[in-house]
Amino acid sequence: MSTSRRNILAGVAGTVAATATVGGTAHAADRTGTGSAATGAADAGRPAAGGRTPTKEPFGKLPDGTGVDRWSLENGGIRMKVLSYGGTIQSLEIPDRFGRYANVSLGYDTIEEYLAGTTYFGALIGRYGNRIAKGQFTLDGTTYQLPVNDGPNSLHGGTQGFDKRIWDITPFVDRSGVGLVLEYVSADGEMGYPGTLTVRVTYTLTADRTWRIEYEATTDKPTVVNLTNHTYFNLAGEGSGDIYGHELTLDAARYTPIDATLIPTGELAQVRGTPFDFRAGKPVGRDIRTGNDQLHKAQGYDHNWVFDKGSTDEPKLVAALRDPESGRALRIATTEPGVQFYSGNFLDGTLTGTSGRIYRQGDGLALETQHFPDSPNQPSFPSTVLRPGETYRTTTEYLFHA
Ligand code: BGC
Repeated sequence: MSTSRRNILAGVAGTVAATATVGGTAHAADRTGTGSAATGAADAGRPAAGGRTPTKEPFGKLPDGTGVDRWSLENGGIRMKVLSYGGTIQSLEIPDRFGRYANVSLGYDTIEEYLAGTTYFGALIGRYGNRIAKGQFTLDGTTYQLPVNDGPNSLHGGTQGFDKRIWDITPFVDRSGVGLVLEYVSADGEMGYPGTLTVRVTYTLTADRTWRIEYEATTDKPTVVNLTNHTYFNLAGEGSGDIYGHELTLDAARYTPIDATLIPTGELAQVRGTPFDFRAGKPVGRDIRTGNDQLHKAQGYDHNWVFDKGSTDEPKLVAALRDPESGRALRIATTEPGVQFYSGNFLDGTLTGTSGRIYRQGDGLALETQHFPDSPNQPSFPSTVLRPGETYRTTTEYLFHA
């Protein structure tokens, strides 16, 4: 491990381990009422003084008249607003090194803009995050056709993915923190996918400035699942300019190169000696203009990195992002084997964000923890198949600091 990577990723390993095991255990135990083993350890994850139950307010209506709620929650120095539409993070405020808050996630001010948008700002993505080639896959001998919505491919669950659904939301305050439980049942055959998928996602803000996302799903027929969150970060504040000066570290020696339609070729290529090497940490913009076929295909970074750690039972630290000017920084711990790092290439100056400023290329970046794109068609990739009787379970944590 290089020195600079050690600097960026080190020092929080203890915190993450504590959050992952203590917070996670206490949280699950609380909700099922079997909390005895968790009680003592759970104190480490209790809400900061003043941790209040999240509140909701109306945020407009869908065309069919269904109301959309906006939930506000706060704990440990994080302020968050979440829409029942798509489980969307509409706003995420964190302090800089002087305690000044800024909204560090791209978003809109009105439901109408979310309905018209194709950028997935802050959204909960499913049933399958990222692309499935030609919207087709074969499972147990049956071929399924999904709606195609990205060139020849199906992207982020199809035309009406989980980002466009209304989620049932239940607030909570417990020893793990302050949060929301989001629930959605995706019908058998919805967007072409087999099996009724019962999904539960928990957003928790912990006392130690961590936003934890726990994803759970069960099915009544074999299906494929790959859930993630599509927040675009700009740690200097949304609308403040581009993210090319943000320093990014990815603990990945390999990535999945893509074809002209952004589908992985199946190869796990070494990052060494390429613009894709973020192991030592570097500004996002340092190599983004290199004459490189892969960067050219995606108009920047829009690839899946393969974490050296693989899939894990507990979240492990794998990535770090820092804005040197404000000092705002985050680290990512996940159970997932990969991440889609997307450098906001297709933002083109046509959208106006939450604070009334126009978003241009590179004004935000997404780090979508996930299984690899097109896994249902790539036998050598880790499987995304979920069968009846199994529970899909993944966790991702964003640890903020300044
Ligand atoms: C995809 C991009 C896409 C973006 C917004 C990312 O996950 O890989 O190609 O433009 O989401 O839809």
